[in-house]
Amino acid sequence: MTEDQSPENEATPPSRRSIRSFVIRGGRQTAAQQRAMDELWPRYGVEFSAQPVDLDRMFGRQAPRMLEIGFGAGEALLAFTQAHPELDCIGVEVHKPGVGHLLLGAESAGLKNLRVICHDAVEVLQQQLAPASVQFIHIFFPDPWHKKRHHKRRLIQPEFVELLARVLAPGGKLRLATDWEHYAIQMREVIDASASFANDAPDTGFVARSEERPLTRFERRGQRLGHGVWDLSYTRTRSSSQ
Ligand SMILES: C[S@@+](CC[C@H](N)C(=O)[O-])C[C@H]1O[C@@H](n2cnc3c(N)ncnc32)[C@H](O)[C@@H]1O
Repeated sequence: MTEDQSPENEATPPSRRSIRSFVIRGGRQTAAQQRAMDELWPRYGVEFSAQPVDLDRMFGRQAPRMLEIGFGAGEALLAFTQAHPELDCIGVEVHKPGVGHLLLGAESAGLKNLRVICHDAVEVLQQQLAPASVQFIHIFFPDPWHKKRHHKRRLIQPEFVELLARVLAPGGKLRLATDWEHYAIQMREVIDASASFANDAPDTGFVARSEERPLTRFERRGQRLGHGVWDLSYTRTRSSSQ
């Protein structure tokens, strides 16, 4: 993402909470995306609730679960969900056109193991998901908030990492990627410092790009601009700091 494209150059409403990692972009919702929201939301959408949801009931079975935070247009989430019918997958995203795009893909793939929450992931982690209720969490290319005065808006900071630790089951995997080196270093420093996580690459800090993560339009564009990409992988420790 270039600085010009980043959300920090848009008008930002006053922050209500400690981390306000996004601005609601107007964005264009295509007619197909609008149809998806109207017709497919009842099948795949889950409204935000301030009480923990019963995920077994939501999916109609007991299965390990993957949560993707800030899925954008949903390419990675769609590919992972299709590749893993044995898992139940939950995507959280605030940008409605992206949600509509994902719903269209879910319909054409005939997915049954996917649900979508269109809400702030901070509140979803705090209130809607029960402790230790998912086995994988993916956060790919979270907004880098390039400018120093905006770094406080980055998702990956200590209090958010402890929310991730709350929801991720012991032994579970946290996977992240970014194309912004300063943020990659911050991710490593912040998560390495948490007793709730062990870095899967303790020597170098970063892992090889996962074959499973599809090359999204976003990442391809970054490659064209000559950006590097840093992948991180952590295991939720069993000795909890919660
Ligand atoms: C830079 S985009 C990356 C999208 C996608 N993961 C990809 O790799 O193409 C970051 C996304 O995170 C979403 N986002 C940022 N903060 C969020 C939050 N607190 N809750 C849910 N989604 C959030 C934004 O709306 C945006 O779509």
